[in-house]
Amino acid sequence: MAEDPQIEITQIDVDVDVQEILLAASQHDNAKLRQLIRTQSALPDAANVKDPETGYTPLHAAISACEPDTDEQANGAANGDSKPAIDAELLQSGVNTVKFLLQEGAIWNDLDNNNETPGCLARRIGAQELYELIVDAGVRAEMLLNRLDAYEPLSDSEGEGEAETEGQKAEAEGETDAAPELVDATEQAAGTTSETLANPDVSQSGYLQSSLNITQDRILDDDQNGVMMGWEREIMRRSAEKLLPREGLKVLNVGHGMGIVDGFLQEHRPAVHHIVEAHADVVAEMKRNGWDSKPGVVIHEGRWQDILPGLVSEGLQFDAIYYDTFAESYKDFKEFFEEQVIGLLEQEGKWGFFNGMGADRQISYDVYQKVAEMDLFEAGFDVDWEDIPVPKLEGEWKGVRRAYWVVDNYRLPLCRFMD
Ligand SMILES: C[S@@+](CC[C@H](N)C(=O)[O-])C[C@H]1O[C@@H](n2cnc3c(N)ncnc32)[C@H](O)[C@@H]1O
Repeated sequence: MAEDPQIEITQIDVDVDVQEILLAASQHDNAKLRQLIRTQSALPDAANVKDPETGYTPLHAAISACEPDTDEQANGAANGDSKPAIDAELLQSGVNTVKFLLQEGAIWNDLDNNNETPGCLARRIGAQELYELIVDAGVRAEMLLNRLDAYEPLSDSEGEGEAETEGQKAEAEGETDAAPELVDATEQAAGTTSETLANPDVSQSGYLQSSLNITQDRILDDDQNGVMMGWEREIMRRSAEKLLPREGLKVLNVGHGMGIVDGFLQEHRPAVHHIVEAHADVVAEMKRNGWDSKPGVVIHEGRWQDILPGLVSEGLQFDAIYYDTFAESYKDFKEFFEEQVIGLLEQEGKWGFFNGMGADRQISYDVYQKVAEMDLFEAGFDVDWEDIPVPKLEGEWKGVRRAYWVVDNYRLPLCRFMD
């Protein structure tokens, strides 16, 4: 049967359009890009086209064009520079094009065939200014997704006569005009949305039903997801030290895991030490290890969502609170500090959390640090961050389903009420 010439021509047109857009992006030719994206191209999402061979989007192409050539790289390495400098003029034109593409709805975390987002690429070639533009775009995108997530969808009858927000309208109509970089990137992009950020493969109910494999140096669920691992010991030690600067304080820990942080908290001799733990296997192990008879320790068996409101209504308050759970979303975490910490922390108290959000990719880690900081600020908390170098963990992941940590520095948060 003869092929339909009309279809063939259309496909060729599309391919040409894609290549033209990618070329204009790589040449930082904003005038041409504007023309192609806004008027000429028939493609529905022209700012997010992809090269079939490399997986490059226009953002990848614009950033990649700033990469110094191989000779310069060799010179840079010979001079002992880890990364060769990028020509200032080229970098500036790259900045202009990246800004333009983001305004036109380019997705901040789309992956190329090398498993890199545009931000990963910018970081690898040492284009810090471009990296920061993408981080900021990521923060805006995630903040808006989190906000939209917080809306209860209106049923047909409920919403009649009421105005929709720009965001709701755009989402309903699949438009990107209101906040162009916030097209729903979740299916094709790296990292995650707030729903799945912490443990993309695991739901809380699935986790709580799974039987755990608890050993000396790790806890795995029955899908080999790492629940807690011994390499986090130094992070736990330092967290406990910052939370309990002297003896005789009252502390609440949410999530016992291997008991590492609780062990360090005990070393600071708290007067009161409450522990909330949801998984039956962990609770059984805690009791086997004698936690129920340690000084000042009160164990609450259950999810913090069910336990903490009771403590608030009893009027309990703590000098220090630590939060490190598993299979919970950013939304859960936000609810924890917005609704529970506010009621449970003494006015002069301090609280911290295991800061592992987005830690399987540097750019996601940077984006989520900023998102958390903004939400914490809005809830009335100041945060101090301390960098702790994380040793190379290659050997650690044997037998673990997914390496949930790849970044070089752990950023340890210490939060308190704003003055
Ligand atoms: C990463 S481990 C905590 C590790 C701990 N910081 C340590 O030093 O060993 C997470 C723990 O939180 C518990 N958990 C998960 N969701 C919870 C929830 N909603 N409420 C209370 N505990 C929870 C898990 O069962 C697990 O024991």
